[in-house]
Amino acid sequence: MALIKDSSPFYTGRPLPHELFTGREEQIRSIERALKQVSAGKQQAIFLTGEFGIGKSSLAHATRYIAESKYDLIGIHVMLGGAKTLDDLSERTLEYALSNEAYKPKNTEKMRDMLSKYIGQQSVLGININFDQLKADAPTLSKGFLPFLKEIYKRVKGDGAKGVYLILDEVNGITKNPDFAHFIKTLVDGNALSSDPLPLLLLLCGVKERREEMIAHHKPVDRIFDIIDVQAMSEEEVNLFFTKTFSKAGYTINDRALNLMYFYSQGYPRAMNLIGDNVFWKAETADIDYEVALYGVIAAANEIGSKFIDSQVLKTIESANYKSILKKIVKNTSMNEMEINKKEILPLLTPNENSKFNNFMQKLKKLAVVRSGSEQGEYIFNDRLTRLYLSMKFYSGH
Ligand SMILES: Nc1ncnc2c1ncn2[C@@H]1O[C@H](COP(=O)(O)OP(=O)(O)OP(=O)(O)O)[C@@H](O)[C@H]1O
Ligand SMILES: [Mg+2]
Repeated sequence: MALIKDSSPFYTGRPLPHELFTGREEQIRSIERALKQVSAGKQQAIFLTGEFGIGKSSLAHATRYIAESKYDLIGIHVMLGGAKTLDDLSERTLEYALSNEAYKPKNTEKMRDMLSKYIGQQSVLGININFDQLKADAPTLSKGFLPFLKEIYKRVKGDGAKGVYLILDEVNGITKNPDFAHFIKTLVDGNALSSDPLPLLLLLCGVKERREEMIAHHKPVDRIFDIIDVQAMSEEEVNLFFTKTFSKAGYTINDRALNLMYFYSQGYPRAMNLIGDNVFWKAETADIDYEVALYGVIAAANEIGSKFIDSQVLKTIESANYKSILKKIVKNTSMNEMEINKKEILPLLTPNENSKFNNFMQKLKKLAVVRSGSEQGEYIFNDRLTRLYLSMKFYSGH
């Protein structure tokens, strides 16, 4: 019987709904401890670190649900990608305060009442934000950010809300701006010292270098945050994730298929979802076996290849020598070999390629294709799908 597939249960490229969120128990426990403190009236600050795509935003999203449903906090999850100034930050905060649906509809309503001046004409698709007005008022808000948060709290307090959970996500751009470090420090200190401190959990999400960048701009930032580090998932968590997500769509999956999907995802959630999604679309019956899993993995590698490797990596290294170096590396190592050893590669290169090897590796590092290994002259591919794609591309002679 042919399977009917409407939509994939996997979420590629966006945080997933909390019911599909898997694992991360330790990190959730740590965040819950902070949420509990906040619901008892205290202020807490956490920096959630971890590599790109490791699952920071999803974890933040899942804990917002816990914060609202279990601890009666009001959550605002602000995506700061592309924001550069404090005015951008204020504008985004208003935007997300308006567009975030709180798990308690009454809180959404109150927030929107308070911010009604920024709502344009209502549409059936949800709210319509008046961005001109947001832009005009952002500078004022930047100067009165804490009072703004307190005002939100005041509005929802009557209905039992116990504090605010403010998530500042994707801080990658804004941490370059020294004003941001000062702003955060002033926000946290100003709140602690005020006569009516706001119960607030401030959670920032970014790679660890972003916190270091903030500290470089303003040293005292190093004492503000508890750090929670998000790492790759364990095999057990990955298996649970695949089993759960596939079963939601009515599929079963055998152990060999699971092993293979774990191997190629290495516990990286972005890769897990990409693989899961591709396996889902390849499956012709509701039982997923090794063969289908392998087709899916290859399709996932091709997807990364066409979306990222071809356009960003291969284009950047188009110079004939760079490309020929990569080709030699790939062709002279086995298909899934993750290590590149300078000592082993140099003898294979022409003198001209030889002189370019170091620069080339630096470029690959910058493009996040490889990272340095523990020994001098050792590099490691960052992910197995990229490695597989390169094998497929260069073995077939391109
Ligand atoms: N705990 C989890 N269980 C299952 N899937 C997850 C989990 N965490 C993240 N994912 C999935 O992994 C992908 C990347 O997650 P997310 O966007 O949260 O990472 P991130 O660390 O915020 O990435 P970035 O550095 O790009 O902001 C998404 O597709 C998401 O659905
Ligand atoms: Mg994110």
